[in-house]
Amino acid sequence: QILEHDQIASTLAARIAQIIRTANSEGRAAVLGLATGSTPIGIYRQLIRMHREEGLDFSNVVTFNLDEYYPMAPDSIHSYHRYMWENLFEHINIPRENVHLPRGDLPRDQVEAHCEGYEQAIRDAGGIDFQLLGIGKTGHIGFNEPGSGVESRTRLLPLDTVTRRDAAADFFGEDNVPTEAITMGVASILDAREIALIATGEHKARVIRRAVEGEPDPDVAATYLQSHPDATFYLDPAAAAELT
Ligand code: F6R
Repeated sequence: QILEHDQIASTLAARIAQIIRTANSEGRAAVLGLATGSTPIGIYRQLIRMHREEGLDFSNVVTFNLDEYYPMAPDSIHSYHRYMWENLFEHINIPRENVHLPRGDLPRDQVEAHCEGYEQAIRDAGGIDFQLLGIGKTGHIGFNEPGSGVESRTRLLPLDTVTRRDAAADFFGEDNVPTEAITMGVASILDAREIALIATGEHKARVIRRAVEGEPDPDVAATYLQSHPDATFYLDPAAAAELT
């Protein structure tokens, strides 16, 4: 779908609200897969507004975030933990225990078990109903950098130099950007029942073309979304500009 920038946020916030309300009326939890970065900010703002003005109830919502830098303290200004609390969770009535993010503060020898536990927690929650995604210049979804296969699961991996360069401004220099991250895998993402990938701006146009029109390829993890039965790309005209 091609929509104007602010329409993307309202369309997706409305869809997420609908999923939450349906689950609430059926007395079950809504399980959301969430992303960080600049792209979802408008959606989170709308969800906060819906909570305040329309009473959208997050008390039975369960969330799983895609990724976190490694190593990363949860209270660091750069952590995705902090991003999620500041941009969404502290403004809505979600119970703390319903929130899940990969942990960037564990010793290396505990990371593998933590990643397996993360996959188990998603299964225990009944799987993800709705997964929100952005896309990086490398074609990553989550932090599934080039080389991430379709079978990949939650794991620690090295970040691509392009990704680290894109994050350099936030970290006041590329040297300060962590070299690794923990991310849900391609397979963990494809297990979601519904997926929405959002991309806005001309700097995403090239990778969007590869993701939408290219063959499924471990060098561009987003190409694997083509095989999902219910995945939609929400693009503004600038991000869609190179589609043929
Ligand atoms: C963030 C994530 C990444 C970003 C992507 C785009 O949790 O998983 O894949 O979605 O790097 O980032 P922005 O939105 O800042 O362009």
